[in-house]
Amino acid sequence: MSKSLQAIRGMNDILPEQTPLWRYFEGTVARLLDNYGYRQIRMPIVEFTELFKRSIGEVTDIVEKEMYTFDDRNGDSLTLRPEGTASCVRAVLEHGISGGGQVQKLWYIGPMFRHERPQKGRYRQFHQIGLEVFNLEGPDIDAELIVMTWRLWGELGLRDAVKLELNSLGTSESRARYRDALVQFLSAHVDKLDEDSQRRLKTNPLRVLDTKNADTQAILVDAPKMADYLDDESRQHFEGLKARLDAAGIPYVLNPKLVRGLDYYSKTVFEWVTDKLGAQGTVCAGGRYDGLVEQMGGKPTPGVGFAMGIERLVLMLEALDKVPEELSRQVDVYLCAFGEAAELAALALSERVRDQLPNLRLQINAGAGSFKSQFKKADKSGALYALILGDDELAQQVVGFKPLRGQGEQQSIAWDALAAHLATCVVQG
Ligand code: HAM
Repeated sequence: MSKSLQAIRGMNDILPEQTPLWRYFEGTVARLLDNYGYRQIRMPIVEFTELFKRSIGEVTDIVEKEMYTFDDRNGDSLTLRPEGTASCVRAVLEHGISGGGQVQKLWYIGPMFRHERPQKGRYRQFHQIGLEVFNLEGPDIDAELIVMTWRLWGELGLRDAVKLELNSLGTSESRARYRDALVQFLSAHVDKLDEDSQRRLKTNPLRVLDTKNADTQAILVDAPKMADYLDDESRQHFEGLKARLDAAGIPYVLNPKLVRGLDYYSKTVFEWVTDKLGAQGTVCAGGRYDGLVEQMGGKPTPGVGFAMGIERLVLMLEALDKVPEELSRQVDVYLCAFGEAAELAALALSERVRDQLPNLRLQINAGAGSFKSQFKKADKSGALYALILGDDELAQQVVGFKPLRGQGEQQSIAWDALAAHLATCVVQG
């Protein structure tokens, strides 16, 4: 197939075989968020480029090299959103829904776009479920976010496979003091730093802590530690968070090198990581951004949030064999009709059954091939029962009721009694 008729590299179709697992995951998270009192917000996928530059930071990988940016027909520079926090803050500001100090607990789901090098767990169009909380500044809400994700891992059966990494970046003042100390330290070793870190030293020195280069990592062992530069308020906030996590029995590791790739964070930052996915092991990440709303032109408004990568979590459920068995069955009952008259009756009969059993997953296969091929399809669909409607059954106003999973013999059921019979063996059983 010619390249222009293929999907763009790193942008994937999610095929019918995969969507049940996606919907299971998304449904589980949505229910949890509902239960904790979060409300969904839906933002556009395209925003003015300036929004992302101002919020994520000019000197970040995302803004420098990963954004899908284009000129609109009227000359405006637009960008496919690389993440959701910037858009969410923009929406909250635009609609004035937290400017008076109102607490907002919002969540969103949808595609994000980054021009990264595609590999397993890293795509150019990927999907996040994220949430943002405005106007709560204490550590209790940071703890709630983490406790909630811990519950999610429990529900999904992933607790043993994830680890929480935690750090505090302090206020912008304490971070500036730390940055100075780090620059001073690194400048003394500049010749030994890798090329990327030399560049970051000039543009965004904290990101040097993120380096994957072993030689630079060795130098960093003796570098000043962020924790020693935290102001009292940030330190107390961080202690408060840790105390709450300890009380809730949630294990964590402190990672003083955790700085995150977006510039808006202050105080708490965290990542849930796994070693089950190879290089792309961060499945959920976020933190506090108390200065962002003000920086975007709003009143001072504390904020905190996180986002999880749906592809990575779906991959993890598969890798760890945590896909619920019932997902393999998308059909309860498969109706096979043979012959023109029976096909006509089959549609009317199936609608009668649906009227009485709106949750029944009934597939009707009128007009699709021989007896043998219809049965093959019925079996492959995972259905528990096949209903058979041919000329004989039509004449007697019955259907053949055939268990497909070894639950007894085939029997004949009158049309009038069909819904009630299905209710006992499918819906309730
Ligand atoms: P982020 O760390 O850039 O943070 O992304 C959050 C999560 O999205 C990652 O941990 C990962 O699971 C997933 N992700 C990121 N890039 C890709 C990719 N190229 N392919 C597949 N999955 C990916 C944010 O986006 C922040 N907005 C999170 C946040 C919300 N902080 C505060 N509020």
